[in-house]
Amino acid sequence: MQTNTRMPFIAGNWKMNTTINEAKKLVADLRPALDKIAGVEKAVCPPFISLSGVKEILEGSTIKTGAQNLYFEEKGAYTGEISPLMLSGLCEYVIIGHSERRQYFKETGDIVNKKIKAALRVGLKPILCVGEKLEENEAGKTAQVVVNQLNEAFAGIKEVNGLVIAYEPIWAIGTGRAATGKQSNETIGLIRKTVTSLVDKDTANHMRILYGGSVTAENIAEFINQPEIDGGLVGGASLKIDQFIGIVQRTSEIKGIRQ
Ligand code: PGA
Repeated sequence: MQTNTRMPFIAGNWKMNTTINEAKKLVADLRPALDKIAGVEKAVCPPFISLSGVKEILEGSTIKTGAQNLYFEEKGAYTGEISPLMLSGLCEYVIIGHSERRQYFKETGDIVNKKIKAALRVGLKPILCVGEKLEENEAGKTAQVVVNQLNEAFAGIKEVNGLVIAYEPIWAIGTGRAATGKQSNETIGLIRKTVTSLVDKDTANHMRILYGGSVTAENIAEFINQPEIDGGLVGGASLKIDQFIGIVQRTSEIKGIRQ
């Protein structure tokens, strides 16, 4: 086991999957095994409409919940949107700036920044996603893209209240083609350095920074063994009971914090 002061964190991003009943069943099936695994913080992020049902099933569990998005206004005429206030009390985390939202729903850096501020105002902890496209990676622009996304995301923010960052190279998401541990460790090191200059050193040293993109129970060790990587944001594999439990288990074995 490595010496580590940051509690490892594994979050499952269920994306647009599971009906309410399927979500409840999935979390009921995950709960007994996950509750036995110590030293790792775990969260599931089901669709909005399942948050309440999932929360009920998780009463008294160590598993936390997160939303996959939010709107930045408090309330009003924004048909179809969900406000930070509606989520507070229902979940602890909220994913912000996922590449699918940037790509399909045209979320800009400015929108991501407003959403982070809105989440922090009500005490929700953002899981901020950053990452480069394949062509940017191939053109050697990963560092530039990620630093730019961080500059936009953190504009005007000095207090981060448990904010987590997930580095998710877009070409690795849902493709079965994960990045290497070494590459991700380098980029995540750069992210930590950038947070040092944008916020402060203490915040950066305590901030959990995750890898995301085709994480499985088989490859999680490669990431978790890296010093800068504090866990994973898991998509496809978080919908498979054995896979998600396996990912949390390996993380606990390698980097779990024993209190
Ligand atoms: P994946 O998705 O694990 O299915 O690649 C990760 C994510 O988009 O958060």
